[in-house]
Amino acid sequence: MARCHYRRALICVCSPCIFLLVLFLFLGIMVCSNMNKTTRSIHFVASGSFKNKNFASMPKTFWKLHEEAFWNQLQLTLDRQFNPILNPQNAYMRFRSHAFYVSLMSRSFSEVTDLDPVRRKMEQLPLQMQDFVSHMKRRSYPVLIQPADMTCGAGAVDEKEPPLLLLAIKSTALNFENRQAIRQTWGQAGWVATRGMDGRPRQKVGGYIRRVFLLGKEYPRDSEWDISELLQEEGEQYGDILQWDFNDTFFNLTLKDVLFWNWFSRQCSKTRFVFKGDDDVFVNTVNMITYLHNQLEKPNAEHIMNEFMVGDVISAAFPNRVHQSKYFVPDSFYKGLYPTYAGGGGVVYSGQLAKRLHNISGRVHLFPIDVFVGMCMARLNAHPIHHSGFLTFDFPYNEDKEPCAYHTILLVHKRSPKQLIELWDKLSKSKNQCRFVSLRVSNKRKNTRIN
Ligand SMILES: *[C@@H]1O[C@H](CO)[C@@H](O)[C@H](O)[C@H]1NC(C)=O
Ligand SMILES: *[C@@H]1O[C@H](CO)[C@@H](O)[C@H](O)[C@H]1NC(C)=O
Ligand SMILES: *[C@@H]1O[C@H](CO)[C@@H](O)[C@H](O)[C@H]1NC(C)=O
Repeated sequence: MARCHYRRALICVCSPCIFLLVLFLFLGIMVCSNMNKTTRSIHFVASGSFKNKNFASMPKTFWKLHEEAFWNQLQLTLDRQFNPILNPQNAYMRFRSHAFYVSLMSRSFSEVTDLDPVRRKMEQLPLQMQDFVSHMKRRSYPVLIQPADMTCGAGAVDEKEPPLLLLAIKSTALNFENRQAIRQTWGQAGWVATRGMDGRPRQKVGGYIRRVFLLGKEYPRDSEWDISELLQEEGEQYGDILQWDFNDTFFNLTLKDVLFWNWFSRQCSKTRFVFKGDDDVFVNTVNMITYLHNQLEKPNAEHIMNEFMVGDVISAAFPNRVHQSKYFVPDSFYKGLYPTYAGGGGVVYSGQLAKRLHNISGRVHLFPIDVFVGMCMARLNAHPIHHSGFLTFDFPYNEDKEPCAYHTILLVHKRSPKQLIELWDKLSKSKNQCRFVSLRVSNKRKNTRIN
């Protein structure tokens, strides 16, 4: 009798142990097999659908991305740090201090660059890429010029509510003319009214716009004079210059995103939306404000805003392997398709998302082109929305010749400063005539673009 009780107690105590042991073994085998497999399967599949949620994106378990290319390998070691099974404490401490990320990043860097085959591969990269690699660990650069009084861009006077839209425009020191044209046209700060169903402005319904230009540093060549003083004066006059102390090159452009998110999170916490784009685009500001206002009026707006990003969405793009292209990325640097991303010519996202991007960006190694934002989005498991009003590759055919063409868009790339001024004038003159045209809706979209 006593023996029997003893055995039952033993079973009671041990069966959960055995169950846990089996579970652990199973999980262990799963993790190991995922890490060691060297399959070359493609992770993103073009779906051919233009429903946003069907777009191919990165796998949710991002530690699965394992290929031999330099960037992939760097990212893999970083992602392992956030693997909830290997490092539960890292994975669940969702957003830790900056120093924590910096130390993990350097660790992954030294792990990878200590490998001989990787080092050899690095030496074969094009010079520009090598330069990128040798600086890619660094993300903090001093601010040289910024809007005075810690304001979130130009246009902060007499605002009666938090700004609706901050225009954050990538520019370079020498593009003074572009900035001036934008200030006079679509980039004017202040109150903008939305357009009602009848095509007329709804004076009381709209939002405040602010503006800031994002710049790196231009180093004078012998033949040129130093324009940093002029830029300083420009900043004082307009209050819309935000400049950091890094060489303003094409491969350093993603630094502008990372540093901007940091600045935004500190300075602009109440701003509802951010437009981030180039200084050679034309934006139909009234349409933009109207479109954004409509998003805020949706019943589940709060929820939508958590991951709201809209633009010309490109999914499952191949890296560009053409040596002469400025987008060239060799396969020794990056392998696989790119995650879904919105073309960098111009994109709009919520302030809430900007803050989340700021946090997650510490877990993603810098990438030389604007796919970087898509990589951060993938890690937030957030999906950009495609809108055909973003013409980052200009109008199809000759559609811009139609009298109301510019009333149907949110943005078009690319236009010179002179064209911006002409277009702005034309837009205002044809306001009445084009009152009833509505925003473009797409009937087709390209899924794969080499970029
Ligand atoms: C980026 O800027 C840093 C700081 O000025 C510079 O050292 C580096 O060469 C730049 N990187 C590229 C790829 O131009
Ligand atoms: C900045 O980058 C350009 C282009 O890569 C390069 O020619 C120039 O020497 C760099 N300047 C500095 C000061 O690093
Ligand atoms: C970002 O991280 C900071 C701490 O580093 C945290 O206080 C903040 O709530 C986070 N923001 C978001 C939007 O997750």
